[in-house]
Amino acid sequence: HPRPIISPSVLASDFGQLSSEVQRMMDEGAEWVHMDVMDGHFVPNITMGPPVLASVYKTVPNVFMDCHMMVADPAAWVKPVAEAGGKSYTFHIEALTDPAKAHEVVELIHSTGMRAAVAISPDTPSSAITDALGNSVDMLLVMTVVPGKGGQKFIASCVPKVAELRTRFPKVDIQVDGGVGPGTVGCCAKAGSNVIVAGTALFGAENPKSVIQDFKDKIEE
Ligand code: DX5
Ligand code: ZN
Repeated sequence: HPRPIISPSVLASDFGQLSSEVQRMMDEGAEWVHMDVMDGHFVPNITMGPPVLASVYKTVPNVFMDCHMMVADPAAWVKPVAEAGGKSYTFHIEALTDPAKAHEVVELIHSTGMRAAVAISPDTPSSAITDALGNSVDMLLVMTVVPGKGGQKFIASCVPKVAELRTRFPKVDIQVDGGVGPGTVGCCAKAGSNVIVAGTALFGAENPKSVIQDFKDKIEE
């Protein structure tokens, strides 16, 4: 696989101390920090937008913000997120009225210098990622819960999609997100995921450093 990357989801953090929570996870060994942006349309909830990302970036300039955009209009937020310091931009294929237009969004993301990623929700088959699309992105995100909130139960039936995509795209980063923790990371890693998002399992951990190390060991096994 490509190298292991751990991306703690700030959805499980204390939003009142967001910057120090981000710094804390970096100090514990996280390469990336997963910023869950929700717009109240693609998903029912609203979390944060570019102004909040910009504040975090100002306080923690060396943060790699892995922006998971749960938004109805993925193209609209590309430039604002890049200007706010986003380094990776993940949009949902389900958000596009015409999935064939996905490559335009990918090109727009790349034009800002950010990494581009496309996400599939639990009900979306891996075949929604065409060969051309998968080969144009830096990362694929296989959701292992229905997007919208943290602390949900891992949906194991999503794992075969990771294996399918890993076979088709040996070099692309494959991220899993939702209900991933010490008990569920193993099957994701075995299927070929190398980028692990975890909210509750990291922000709620007594020793996040050892959980991060355990995740990395499972990917490298
Ligand atoms: C769900 C979000 C996830 C979620 C992960 O909509 O995309 O990033 O917060 O949190 P846990 O690990 O607690 O499921
Ligand atoms: Zn997420």
